[in-house]
Amino acid sequence: MLTLSPLSLYVHLPWCVRKCPYCDFNSHEGRGTLPFDGYVDALLADLDQDLPLVWGRTITSVFFGGGTPSLFPPAAIDRFLQAASARLRFAPSLEITLETNPGTAEHGRFGHYLAAGVNRLSFGVQSFDDGCLQRLGRIHDSAQAEVAIKLAQDAGYGNFNIDLMYALPGQTLAMAEYDIGRALALRPTHLSHYQLTLEPNTVFAAKPPANIPDEDAAWDIQEHCQRLIADAGFDHYEVSAYAKPGAQCAHSRNDWLFGDYLGIGAGAHGKITLPANEGILRRWKLKHPTAYMASATSDARIGGDEWLDASRRPFDFMLNALRLTEGFALSLFEARTGLPRTAIAEELQTAIARGWIVIENDRVLPTEFGQRFGNDVIALFLH
Ligand SMILES: C[S@@+](CC[C@H](N)C(=O)[O-])C[C@H]1O[C@@H](n2cnc3c(N)ncnc32)[C@H](O)[C@@H]1O
Ligand code: SF4
Repeated sequence: MLTLSPLSLYVHLPWCVRKCPYCDFNSHEGRGTLPFDGYVDALLADLDQDLPLVWGRTITSVFFGGGTPSLFPPAAIDRFLQAASARLRFAPSLEITLETNPGTAEHGRFGHYLAAGVNRLSFGVQSFDDGCLQRLGRIHDSAQAEVAIKLAQDAGYGNFNIDLMYALPGQTLAMAEYDIGRALALRPTHLSHYQLTLEPNTVFAAKPPANIPDEDAAWDIQEHCQRLIADAGFDHYEVSAYAKPGAQCAHSRNDWLFGDYLGIGAGAHGKITLPANEGILRRWKLKHPTAYMASATSDARIGGDEWLDASRRPFDFMLNALRLTEGFALSLFEARTGLPRTAIAEELQTAIARGWIVIENDRVLPTEFGQRFGNDVIALFLH
């Protein structure tokens, strides 16, 4: 039987100073003055209409993702959070994260984000090598990244994530290790370490940069960096995520365990369980900011609704749950998908036989081998 999971709120803020050539996120180069106030109005109108999907439920985390949320003035974030907390029940000490591009850090901004309720920042640093940053088309250099993080720390932020990418054009193992050292020296509570992927419909996919490390070199980098990060006291709790004790990202954890989230904003995706009709609804919003804002007060803002039928649920569940090092309990699979564990018994047996997972005390755990070939494991559940 379907049971309600924690519920989080994802808010998409779609503009960036410049589009990075590797990025396939719903991000748009913001030219001229951006309509921050109008966009917050649209977010609230969108939220108002989605409220009946989540009546009475408590929000356990908020995540401002982008795009570049740090382009938004603190007053706009403050107005959104105040209005949202008047409409939804916020859990007492909920995590509120804001993604930050170090190239947008203005003096004085961070104190105001903190006062608005944002208690966690996620910095998109990518690398501390200025050559790598240039080849990635970033708008900041490594010195600016350090200054931004120090400004945030001075303003009172102790809980923050640094995003790094690896297997970058021209990057050696020593350069990747250097990036980890520089990141750790800034004392983050969380690190995300992503392998650069060439996403379809990006500038890099059309014209791949020279000297991207091959898969073996990328694996070597991943293994060495993983050790360095673990030695600094971080738990490697998801394929790309590392956290100090007590600092795992509550918002991402809920996503990875097939929890519910409301998705507000241009191109935002949501997933909501409706136990009364044994339904799981995926809803996404119009992608383009202009079209989204123009239609935010009506159903026209909805890019699509999809009810997840029983045959799709195992794949959607596994897609993220198998990314967690701690795996998942089979009882959680049953509660979140509404399906009995027998629905995936055959696939689990195949995965065990191939050395991809083990089952211990009713928990499904990916092996190291299984984590390396995650896509193959997940494909077993696609019907
Ligand atoms: C929405 S962005 C973070 C905030 C902000 N937009 C920025 O870039 O500074 C999320 C993160 O995804 C990662 N990312 C984006 N495109 C990627 C790609 N093609 N391969 C690997 N990681 C990627 C980057 O580390 C990036 O910081
Ligand atoms: S700043 Fe972030 S969201 Fe914007 S284009 Fe670059 S990687 Fe994508």
